[in-house]
Amino acid sequence: MQIALDNAVPGIDGDCGGECACGTCHMVIADEWFGKTGAVNDAEEQMLSMTPERARTSRLGCQVKTSEDMDGLIIKLPEFQM
Ligand code: FES
Repeated sequence: MQIALDNAVPGIDGDCGGECACGTCHMVIADEWFGKTGAVNDAEEQMLSMTPERARTSRLGCQVKTSEDMDGLIIKLPEFQM
């Protein structure tokens, strides 16, 4: 989420500043990359459960810690952030 905001990527709002409290950083990870994004914790699961466009590989961008082995990560953004 922060990388998207720092680089003016449209479609990631990050309204709560990364506190896992708004859901405006929803993204859908490409299947082949989902396993590299780590585990979904309870707070993230709660926010995702309220996300209308949730998919099997949905994550909140603010809860994904990036690393070198995620270079090339493919994500799709929902049409609308909630
Ligand atoms: S920035 Fe608010 S939930 Fe991610």
